[in-house]
Amino acid sequence: MSSLPPESDFDLEALLAPAVAVLGPPTSLSPLPYDLNAGVPDRPSLPWQALAEAARVALEANAGDALTYGGVAGYEPLRAWIAERQAAETGLPITSAQITLTSGSAQAIDTIAATFLGPGDQVVTGAPTYPGAIRAFKARGASILDVPQDDDGLRTDVLESLLRAERSAGRRVKLVYVVATYDNPSGATLTLERRQHLARLSREHGVLIVEDDAYAGIDLDGPPPTSLYEITGGQGILRVGTFSKTIASGLRVGWVVSEPRIVQRLNYMRFDNGASPFVQHTVLAYLRSGAYDTHVTRLCDLYRERRDASAAAIVEFCEPYVTFKRPAGGFFHWLHLRPGLDAQAVFEAGQRHGVAVTPGPSYYPNGGGHEHIRLVYSALPPQELRAGIQQLGAALEEVAGSPRPK
Ligand SMILES: Cc1ncc(COP(=O)(O)O)c(C=O)c1O
Repeated sequence: MSSLPPESDFDLEALLAPAVAVLGPPTSLSPLPYDLNAGVPDRPSLPWQALAEAARVALEANAGDALTYGGVAGYEPLRAWIAERQAAETGLPITSAQITLTSGSAQAIDTIAATFLGPGDQVVTGAPTYPGAIRAFKARGASILDVPQDDDGLRTDVLESLLRAERSAGRRVKLVYVVATYDNPSGATLTLERRQHLARLSREHGVLIVEDDAYAGIDLDGPPPTSLYEITGGQGILRVGTFSKTIASGLRVGWVVSEPRIVQRLNYMRFDNGASPFVQHTVLAYLRSGAYDTHVTRLCDLYRERRDASAAAIVEFCEPYVTFKRPAGGFFHWLHLRPGLDAQAVFEAGQRHGVAVTPGPSYYPNGGGHEHIRLVYSALPPQELRAGIQQLGAALEEVAGSPRPK
């Protein structure tokens, strides 16, 4: 028998796809006592008993379909349930043919990138924006043009100038990706006026909107402004949704709502033999049990208490080193550091004080963000949030090099 050369003969670096070198690391959980970094839901409120019962109901009803391939678009009755909800919300006639179910909204974003973007293509995101979208777009070799955000979300006036400039230079922009409601990381919600402006710009320049609605339903101060999907009448837009924040991120059930011709292309491009039929059947049984709306209302009460407790602690322990605007929903505070304080230095000092936060640059596709940090309030109860933020205050004091002016 001939002997094989040793495994180390493989030059792994030379074999990797070019995208590997340009991607940032995926986020991870922190082992520190206070993890204000990972944007995860509250664990004790995960509805595991109701989901166990729903799984039993789903399997008893149709184990054969739940446990075999279900097609790429996903379980039709669940698509119909989502379509009905979205139709009631938007007043638009949405059908199950306009929906494809994905493994979380992460796969939805990745499939959109696979369908529309190749090397050298241009996509617009906010600065800051969701790092998962940055990864998905860069992995396809696309260039990201970033548009600043303020307290009211994406600066559509800047977007307008950018789109004009690109058009006069003969360059096409294919997509605008936006988390219009309770943005990750900025917590900002795009105002109605800016939504209308964005919809007009999309039409004028032939650019598709990707409306990532991952935090839909986590309404802490009443309902958000009209969705971009409704404003555009569902034309030229892909709306991405998920049950990750309102039921459980471990389910990995997300979706895209769009025009049938776009959904067909997404279904053509994805290669996964469909997301899990078992989980989709289970989720539908859970939704049909009637527990969902009460559960989401309870979650909103819980997250509102955490948002308010953390906001009060930031004022108590971190001002005047930071300024921030209380978000109307979602999971995040986005803190603006006082001039002279650097996000990386605050992050490192935070580590020494046992508190993990995320430095701003992680959210900027083309650099920047050194004057911001993101703080998650969803995962910990109020007393722990307060204790963690007290430690963050100590870290800020250390970086500032002087005791906090009271
Ligand atoms: C803005 C945004 N989009 C998408 C996702 C992906 O979520 P999932 O894949 O669990 O649906 C997240 C997760 O945190 C997010 O913050």
